[in-house]
Amino acid sequence: MPDIELLERQLTARVHASAQPSEVLRAPEIRQLYAQIRTLDASQRAEFGARVNALKLSIEQAIAARQAELDYVELPPIDVTAPMDVNAALPALLPAEQGSQHPLTREIARISEIFGRMGFVTEQSREIDDQYHMFESLNFPKGHPARDDYDTFMTVETDREQEPLIAPAHTSTMQNRTLVKYRDQLERGEAIAAIVPDRVFRNEDLDARHEHTFYQVEGIYVARGVHAGMLVATLKKFLEEYYGRQLEVRVNPFYFPFTEPSFEFALSCPFCEHGCNVCSQSKWIELLGCGMIHPNVLRAADIDPEVYTGFAFGCGIDRLVMMKYGIEDVRHFESAKLDFLRQF
Ligand code: DAH
Repeated sequence: MPDIELLERQLTARVHASAQPSEVLRAPEIRQLYAQIRTLDASQRAEFGARVNALKLSIEQAIAARQAELDYVELPPIDVTAPMDVNAALPALLPAEQGSQHPLTREIARISEIFGRMGFVTEQSREIDDQYHMFESLNFPKGHPARDDYDTFMTVETDREQEPLIAPAHTSTMQNRTLVKYRDQLERGEAIAAIVPDRVFRNEDLDARHEHTFYQVEGIYVARGVHAGMLVATLKKFLEEYYGRQLEVRVNPFYFPFTEPSFEFALSCPFCEHGCNVCSQSKWIELLGCGMIHPNVLRAADIDPEVYTGFAFGCGIDRLVMMKYGIEDVRHFESAKLDFLRQF
């Protein structure tokens, strides 16, 4: 008589060691046991048959357990925080070493670095503000029609003045705070020189040139005897550094409540001599708004406009970066699409 218990131990060990455990059921030893049942006489057959069946059942259970173990181990580890398309046939995980900075983050660092070399400190904006900073301190009194030029997102909650709070629609919302923060420097004979590159929000109809969330860089410079020539020279220098080539600039009169006079600032297309797609064949690109800071804005920050003057500017960063890299749709920036991001 074969030693069924010994065989069961051997087969179970084989199951545990196997990468294809169900194969063990086809072992010749098992076939031989079944063949043997028929050769036994009736008195032994029932009991022996039952023991063989029990052996088979036990092996089957071991196989199921082993298979579960194999299935578990073979699953690829899933990082639930990884950005990936869960509907893709084969979701590809983003290896950490291939991560990269968002192009806007990188370009903002570059902008800060260029202005830093010109003596400007970098300040941050905020994601919620009040109407005083967004409008009033910038010489938009209550009911001023130019408030409507900003498609402003407002909250249901109101501030102390019972007015809705605002998701800032321009980085100019930081002008008053920046002037107040650095006001003391003026008395020590130093200039106030700051940029604020940060996120802004507008309730826009979205298309290739308009996003509800985008970036601006605000510039503020105040000292004794500041004039518009310094504004033009500063912006021209910045743009030439940023695009790495010499540019011509053009200044046209414009209107903003917080500057007087106000200008619209254009640069010669950095990419062509005779017209191209980037400049819509015009050779000029209207890039930003700027001007001499309005006396009321200085007064709101307790700075005497009889003694000090200054310039300010506000430039869309997305546009600047799109032109630099030939990006055709502003919505790529907020899309979180790896195909786009991995190009940087
Ligand atoms: N805040 C303006 C806007 O978003 C841009 C701007 C224009 C900012 C002129 C300035 C400025 O500081 O002087 O439309």
